[in-house]
Amino acid sequence: MWESDGGLLARVDKDKMPRHVAIIMDGNGRWANGRGLIRSAGHRAGVKTLKNILKTAVNLKLEALTVYAFSTENWKRPHAEVNFLMHLFSEYLEREKLEMHQNNVRIKFLGRTEDFAPALQKLMRDSTELMKNNSGVKFNVAADYGGQDEIIRAAQKLARRVKTGELLPENISTQLFEAELDTAGQPPVDLLIRTSGDLRVSNFLLWQAAYAEFWFTDTPWPEFTPEEFIDALVDFGKRSRRFGALNE
Ligand code: IPE
Ligand code: IPE
Ligand code: MG
Repeated sequence: MWESDGGLLARVDKDKMPRHVAIIMDGNGRWANGRGLIRSAGHRAGVKTLKNILKTAVNLKLEALTVYAFSTENWKRPHAEVNFLMHLFSEYLEREKLEMHQNNVRIKFLGRTEDFAPALQKLMRDSTELMKNNSGVKFNVAADYGGQDEIIRAAQKLARRVKTGELLPENISTQLFEAELDTAGQPPVDLLIRTSGDLRVSNFLLWQAAYAEFWFTDTPWPEFTPEEFIDALVDFGKRSRRFGALNE
């Protein structure tokens, strides 16, 4: 089992914890370039950070953690970088899946997946299957994921149901729409973290983050620590969330 740093976790008020945290793990390439390394070294360092943050999420008993691993726009990168990322993704899953399972993690993949190599698709299916009955943190890995693409796929599924006569257009509700998203059955995003200084959402969880609190840091992803993750959670606990209403 993954050991926990009780002192660190004690900083978080359990009553003010977000249910769902999403992270745009950005800045691997810039971190590597800044140290005279090639971009892939940054991606490799980023995997280590991810492992530490997932451990922290497990120890905090966070309900859901969603990480942005590869966007629908990331295919525009040089072929060699895309290939390296795919290789790293496979290696990570192969190496970590048992340990995640032993820690009661339930992995799920958000996104299209069909453009990945068949072997990687199989590894994704097998990991999902292995952990599907686990009751711990819901760990969503967004891979070949775009918020707009996800919304279009959901609209297409609903349109098909309308076409067969199973559903009336006027009965399409927020709940029905949500049930067709890749995150169906999971709580909305409460806290969205982006590392490495850019202040944008880059097509991540457009629907689910409708009322998310945002937390940005200049720290590049390879240097992001459990301590800073806890800083974000503590800050979240101080926010006044009104959801359009007024405070009493
Ligand atoms: C995030 O780091 C990882 C992926 C997008 C896969 P980047 O690769 O975007 O690193 P920067 O933003 O170029 O530094
Ligand atoms: C977002 O980062 C995608 C991931 C972290 C996987 P990008 O680096 O692709 O975003 P932009 O291009 O700076 O908006
Ligand atoms: Mg980037």
